Amino acid sequence: MPKQPTEIDIEISTLSEQGSGGGTHNERPVWVRNALPGETVRARILKRRGGQRFADGQPLENFSSDRVTSPCQYFPRCGGCATHHMAPTAQLGHKQRQLSDQLVIQGIQPNSWRVPVALLRLGYRRKARMGVRVVGESVLVGFRESFSNRVARIDACLTLTPELSKLIPPLKASIARMSDPKTIPQIELAQGDSGCAVIVRHLQPLTDADVALWQAFEVNCQVEVLMQSKGYDTLTPIAKNRQQMSLLHYQIPEYGLTIGFYPHYFTQVNAPMNRELVRTVMGYLGNVRGHVVVDMFCGIGNFTLPLARAGALAVGIEASDEAVEMAKENARVNRVDHASAFYAEDLYGEGGALVSATDESDETAPTGSSINACFDHFSQSPDALILDPPRSGAGPNLEGWAGIPSLKQIVYVSCNPVTFAEDAKRLKAKGYVLEQVGVYDMFPGTAHVETVGRFVRTSVVGLD
Ligand SMILES: C[S@@+](CC[C@H](N)C(=O)[O-])C[C@H]1O[C@@H](n2cnc3c(N)ncnc32)[C@H](O)[C@@H]1O
Repeated sequence: MPKQPTEIDIEISTLSEQGSGGGTHNERPVWVRNALPGETVRARILKRRGGQRFADGQPLENFSSDRVTSPCQYFPRCGGCATHHMAPTAQLGHKQRQLSDQLVIQGIQPNSWRVPVALLRLGYRRKARMGVRVVGESVLVGFRESFSNRVARIDACLTLTPELSKLIPPLKASIARMSDPKTIPQIELAQGDSGCAVIVRHLQPLTDADVALWQAFEVNCQVEVLMQSKGYDTLTPIAKNRQQMSLLHYQIPEYGLTIGFYPHYFTQVNAPMNRELVRTVMGYLGNVRGHVVVDMFCGIGNFTLPLARAGALAVGIEASDEAVEMAKENARVNRVDHASAFYAEDLYGEGGALVSATDESDETAPTGSSINACFDHFSQSPDALILDPPRSGAGPNLEGWAGIPSLKQIVYVSCNPVTFAEDAKRLKAKGYVLEQVGVYDMFPGTAHVETVGRFVRTSVVGLD
């Protein structure tokens, strides 16, 4: 068999969703990190899989006008970021193009586009899960390398907030001094407005010396250290005198809200961009005073609480019992519990399916859907919905929710343009138009595309 070349010169013709330049060699696709359309690059093959090649790239000629020098010394080997070699405007254009391509595939034409919103480019990331590897004498703590499962060799990260980035060297040093560093597979970092937490996953019981080491880390680095032996229900503060982990907090000053969360809960990672998301969603909803708005996939109440503060009767629904309890506590602490209600429900499951009036009178139909009780909490039908689902989209019950006769609009926050566009098509079939849509650069320098779209009802379709 002829030896396959490990270095090839190719022309880049396309840019993948993941931010890799695409070309072909011997009629096979080659994906090259650090390469842009129009450029000729020398590609060093790193991986072959499923007939495709994945390569590192050095541009040789025809440098793209979108190319910039990455501010990060670890780019592009570290896979934490994907598009540091692109000018910020080009990154935004790429994200908007992905969204518009998906909308075209689904036959959706928005009435208007909002100019892409970008704020901090670096130092924005308040949450991260990092791999740990022991290589010889060294301990690595970092994101995975691109096109590889290896942990990147880094001492700092420009994407993380400075407070989290500076924890990387002491984390490496502490793990290296443990009785068995190989028993630490992963570290999680989380930051609130006035404190940080570190979750150390460990596969074996800790020795007394290990405990003392992490207690010293907590004091020296002024962060809360939580040890995790199995699932999140095993999270234990390392400090002797603390039984309970401490809450972190973030503020939404425009609504006078302080939102508490535990480090392993879902929170939007980019605090300034989150405030922009809340501003956008609230702006789209308009005057909510006295109206019922249901916040689907509400987490700890990131949108529900601003709604309640603005005078809405706000209902939040979410699968995680823990998040719902946290949301209730956040409502109580912020004194908006009279105007908000929270329910734990799997919105993808049967319990998330709205039972229509005809179904209710049909004895063979499923009964007792709790989602009906959620929508009826304030004995008043909802005017609007917020959807902020995971990457998989709003799920099989969307049509039922969208069919509620009283609904006038749906504001959809999405982290996946593919499912956003698919759901937009389903909403179109239910009589909604995509009035405005735009991308929000929640994770600059990465391939992540965050979208907010406002769907307005123009006709009532398929009512019983
Ligand atoms: C993108 S997060 C949004 C959270 C919240 N809106 C925020 O801004 O912080 C998606 C949320 O959906 C929840 N979720 C995931 N699957 C779910 C399901 N099947 N039913 C209900 N909620 C679900 C997650 O627990 C998570 O809180």
